[in-house]
Amino acid sequence: MYVCICHAVTEDDVRGRITAGAASVKEVRAACGMPPGCGSCTKRLCALVSERRAPDLLADDLSGTLAGLDAEVGTAA
Ligand code: FES
Repeated sequence: MYVCICHAVTEDDVRGRITAGAASVKEVRAACGMPPGCGSCTKRLCALVSERRAPDLLADDLSGTLAGLDAEVGTAA
């Protein structure tokens, strides 16, 4: 399914960029070559980034570490 029809970016494209290390909507946009866009694609990007970050945040809760926070500020190893 397309996240942004204007730039032919699919959910698989976005998930691939997240897997490759893009940790925020801004980073995913840059990695996919998407300029700031309309509200529709931004909502979909936010949902996909949140979907992928949720396991990190859950791991933080279970282990007491801050892996999600580390990824957000770019200090993760
Ligand atoms: S759907 Fe392409 S810029 Fe929003």
